[in-house]
Amino acid sequence: MTQEISQKHSIRPEVLSIEKYVAGKPISEVKRELGLDEVIKLASNENPLGCSPKAKEALKRVIDESSLYPDSSSYELKKAIANKLNVKEGQIFCGAGSDSLIKVICQTILNPEDESIMGEVTFSRYEDNTKLMGGTVVKVPLKNNFLDIEAMVEKITPKTKVIWFCNPNNPTGGMFTGTELNEVLHKISKDVYIIMDEAYYEYVTDEDYPDSLKLLPEYPNMIILRTFSKAYGLASLRCGYGICHEELVQYLNRVINPFDVNLFAQYAAIAALEDEEYLKLVHETNKEQKEYLLKAFDEMKLNYVPSNTNFIMVDVKGQDKFLFDYLLKKGIIIRPGFLLGMPGWLRVSIGTEYQNKKFIEELKQGIKKI
Ligand SMILES: Cc1ncc(COP(=O)(O)O)c(C=O)c1O
Repeated sequence: MTQEISQKHSIRPEVLSIEKYVAGKPISEVKRELGLDEVIKLASNENPLGCSPKAKEALKRVIDESSLYPDSSSYELKKAIANKLNVKEGQIFCGAGSDSLIKVICQTILNPEDESIMGEVTFSRYEDNTKLMGGTVVKVPLKNNFLDIEAMVEKITPKTKVIWFCNPNNPTGGMFTGTELNEVLHKISKDVYIIMDEAYYEYVTDEDYPDSLKLLPEYPNMIILRTFSKAYGLASLRCGYGICHEELVQYLNRVINPFDVNLFAQYAAIAALEDEEYLKLVHETNKEQKEYLLKAFDEMKLNYVPSNTNFIMVDVKGQDKFLFDYLLKKGIIIRPGFLLGMPGWLRVSIGTEYQNKKFIEELKQGIKKI
């Protein structure tokens, strides 16, 4: 037996069942590989305006504390979140991005063969972490490119442990309303955890977006996930949080790595939360730039999914691979749909006016070459 084979046999089958996550290409890699000076990344739904200036100031202030472990309870951060959301501090848990918290939730609640229900096309980490715990992934097709929460709830069996409501859904960008949610919630047994992944919450423009926080008292089985990586512009610092019933937080805290949220993340996140003016600017700029991109897609006769996020899923009629390669050579990184379960489509993050104009110009040139 070769070394390679014997190692494979010693790896948990659950690990062998998943693939490495393919992230959006980093700017530095594209510059290096293609010898480009300017590269625009519209691939990972980051905030093109960066973070609040107040968060930058906070980072500078705490730099001398780098040698110390951070507060493992994220006390001040939880207090700031609780104050802002008007919930109890004990209802908040924090981790190194909501990605880390998705894993923690799976590690806390999933037994082998427990069923985990999710959209056919949704954030891939639900699937990977379910498989990692030996759970069974149950995928439900989208309806007109939107999560079909009614069909998802119909899939619940006595084996179901968790249902993932990604709202708005990544990578499609569409949302379901409060009315739609209320129509299905009462059908979900209290033994099933309902995960409301609201990573793009701050970008939502539709007034019918569900007020999930209000539902928490009635649904102790509900967990809301949010992040500082998107509208707050702190993706690199890795900070996400969840809100749920206090008792459940205590179990989740046993699983979260003690120093998951580093010192910089804690202080920058507090400052970012306080800077409501900046968040408003981010929201407004995104809304304005979304309109610019949608108008351009309309003119190009490209269909897209109506988005309540900072990204748009566009139907490029089967040419996602070609256009990804073409745009990359021009220094623009987007996400081809084939990597996200939507072959033939392309997901583009909404950038600055300059970035979006460049993207549209190059997209037009790329389409001419097909
Ligand atoms: C729906 C959704 N949930 C969670 C995450 C994870 O974000 P982070 O780990 O940066 O908080 C993402 C990131 O793209 C996402 O799109």
